[in-house]
Amino acid sequence: MNKEKETIDDIIEKYPGRPEYLIFLLQDIQSSYHFISPEAMNLVCDHVGVPLTQAYAVATFYQSFSLEPKGEHEIRVCLGTACHLKGGPRVVEEAERKLGIKSGQTTKDLKFTLETVNCVGACALAPVAVVDEEYFPNVTTRKLLKNIDKLSAE
Ligand code: FES
Repeated sequence: MNKEKETIDDIIEKYPGRPEYLIFLLQDIQSSYHFISPEAMNLVCDHVGVPLTQAYAVATFYQSFSLEPKGEHEIRVCLGTACHLKGGPRVVEEAERKLGIKSGQTTKDLKFTLETVNCVGACALAPVAVVDEEYFPNVTTRKLLKNIDKLSAE
């Protein structure tokens, strides 16, 4: 899944230069670089023949795209009703303290981005955190911090 070593040109060459491939290209670039830089956006638009304004409209519409650099690992703590009631806010506070950032921010070393979300569809398992694509049901502060330590050491 991690394609860090691929250059933007390599990613672009995988798709035909047609407008319908815009989202696929943006997804691949997001997945490799954790954000879509202005340079990447220009290259993609040139390739698929879509105006920049239209591509930015798409990138800002979908939450999965980021126009700001994001951390290598994305930690999302659910603060939907069920998770909120079962201790989600405390998990967020401890993660903020551990990482030295506020929710919505990225660590300076670009290793972690911490976010809160409004229900990840697993309310029966509240509180829930999602680290990259991995779900942590009934997450405790201890469990999450341990995982952050593990990822920090990689
Ligand atoms: S409220 Fe957290 S998973 Fe639904």
